[in-house]
Amino acid sequence: MTDQDDLVIEVAGATKTFVQRRRGERRLRRERVDVHAVRDVSFTVRAGEIIGYLGPNGAGKSTTIKMLIGVLTPSAGRLRVAGLDPARQRIALARRIGVVFGQRSTLWWDLPLRDSFELVRHLYRVPSGQFRA
Ligand SMILES: Nc1ncnc2c1ncn2[C@@H]1O[C@H](COP(=O)(O)OP(=O)(O)OP(=O)(O)O)[C@@H](O)[C@H]1O
Ligand SMILES: [Mg+2]
Repeated sequence: MTDQDDLVIEVAGATKTFVQRRRGERRLRRERVDVHAVRDVSFTVRAGEIIGYLGPNGAGKSTTIKMLIGVLTPSAGRLRVAGLDPARQRIALARRIGVVFGQRSTLWWDLPLRDSFELVRHLYRVPSGQFRA
C-alpha cells in the first residue's frame, strides 16, 4: 500500500503568519508585527498511521492542527485532509474527522485516550453504537 490513495493527510509548505498590531516605542504609533506561527511545514500521514507532533510551547502545533481542520486559512502552502481542502471544505471535512484539544475537562492524564473518550461517552449518555460510528 504505497499508492496516493492511502494518504489521508498531505501538508506541503504549510505556513501561517499572524499580523499583529503592537503599540510602538512612541505610544501613538502602532507597529505591524508578523508572527511566524508555522513556517514551511511538510509531512504526510497514511491511513492507519498513529503519529505524534511534538514541539515546545509556541512552536506552532495548535496552529497546524487548526489549518488541518479548516479553522485557520494557511498564509501559504497546500493542505489536503481526507481528499478535501480544509479551509474551503471545512463543513464537509467536519463530517469526516474530529479534533479533541486536550484541556483538563476533556482528557485525563492517567487514562489512555480511548478510556477518556469512553468516560465522556458515559457522562453524556451516548449509546455505544452511535459512539463507535
Ligand atoms: N491568533 C493569533 N494571533 C497572533 N499570534 C498567534 C495566534 N495564535 C497563535 N499565535 C502565535 O503563534 C505561535 C504558535 O502558537 P501555537 O499556539 O500554534 O503553538 P503551540 O505549539 O500549540 O504551543 P503550546 O505548546 O503552548 O500549545 C506562538 O508564538 C503564538 O503566540
Ligand atoms: Mg497548542
